[in-house]
Amino acid sequence: MARRILVTGGAGYIGSHTVLQLLLAGFGVVVVDNLDNSSEVAVERVTAIAGKYGKNLTFHRIDLRDKDALDKLFASTKFDAVVHFAGLKAVGESVQKPLLYYNNNIIGTIALLEAMVRHGCKKLVFSSSATVYGWPKKVPCTEESPLCAMNPYGRTKLMIEDICRDIHRADKDWNIILLRYFNPIGAHPSGNIGEDPRGFPNNLMPFVQQVAVGRRPTLTVFGNDYSTKDGTGVRDYIHVVDLADGHIAALQKLFKASNLGCEVYNLGTGKGTSVLEMVAAFEKTSGKKIPVVKAGRRHGDAEILYASTRKAEKELKWKAKYGIEEMCRDQWNWAKKNPWGYGSPDSTS
Ligand code: NAD
Ligand code: UD1
Repeated sequence: MARRILVTGGAGYIGSHTVLQLLLAGFGVVVVDNLDNSSEVAVERVTAIAGKYGKNLTFHRIDLRDKDALDKLFASTKFDAVVHFAGLKAVGESVQKPLLYYNNNIIGTIALLEAMVRHGCKKLVFSSSATVYGWPKKVPCTEESPLCAMNPYGRTKLMIEDICRDIHRADKDWNIILLRYFNPIGAHPSGNIGEDPRGFPNNLMPFVQQVAVGRRPTLTVFGNDYSTKDGTGVRDYIHVVDLADGHIAALQKLFKASNLGCEVYNLGTGKGTSVLEMVAAFEKTSGKKIPVVKAGRRHGDAEILYASTRKAEKELKWKAKYGIEEMCRDQWNWAKKNPWGYGSPDSTS
């Protein structure tokens, strides 16, 4: 029988792409999402793209903090593993509303872990972030680089990583993989699913995309005096489909190794690209001019951040396949086909 995976936050950007790859790989998938930052249309589109595998996907609108709803779900379905994406992720908002972030991300995760214990499911893949490296003194970041939270959002990631390490220390039946994502961008090549942030986009490429389709006049480039090739920040951008495939590799590892423990892997490409290089690459693939306005540094931004990918390559047998050009091509394809994301001009701001 096909393995069944519970995916929390599976209607979101990374979640929806991962659900699709899971279905195509033959897994049965149950998504829980409260649709706080996503749309059920994403789940419908995933079902459609998956074709004959679409029937293996079910969706429940549940908030992770709703213990009764989670219990009912676990009681009715046996899960072989959980992939946990659900959480709030806007850094600026987390600084303004720390309690919202601690409540949603920490309490939500604890509720999930407790339900897993009650129902005997002790295999987990968790979405951590390169943000846990703070402003690294040395790049590339390896999994052993020093950790440091720069804001409440980052602190929730570090806390959840620590919670995972602690529960494994206390109970060796747990097998957990913490995935530290670098900068996921792009969209599925079909152009039917992609990133659709609510309100003002915090991240670079969703902003670039909204300028390209005429929703915003200019891109503000934060900082031009960094010690980088052109003075702008450098990041490790990774195609979201590559990232999604990283989760399949992680699950395969969890199912193969019965005493894995709690392991952490970077998911990145190992290559650094500056803001202006990204803008130029997007302009080239889209044929659209992205007017930029230079501004001061954004508080809390690191100068250069990119991954060492050796551990994931060696132990997960996973390596990113796509380059910046493909990331921009697929981002533009999604934007062109869906200038208002999953909504309409009056449903977004
Ligand atoms: P997203 O906002 O698109 O997806 C998160 C999903 O979780 C949303 O669909 C949201 O509705 C849901 N959700 C939030 N709180 C919930 C709750 N209490 N109960 C049920 N559902 C809830 O974000 P994403 O970009 O797909 O990110 C997924 C995960 O990866 C997050 O944990 C995020 O912190 C992490 N991450 C993202 C990035 C990135 O650049 N996108 C980088 C590093 C880590
Ligand atoms: C940001 C978060 C990080 C989080 C990640 C995913 C901060 C400080 N960091 O990472 O914690 O895990 O998103 O949600 O917010 N840029 C511009 N103009 C823009 C937007 C971004 O110039 O309008 C620049 C940034 O200064 C940075 C680069 O683009 O140099 C990438 O920014 P972004 O996409 O927000 O990702 P991170 O800052 O790496």
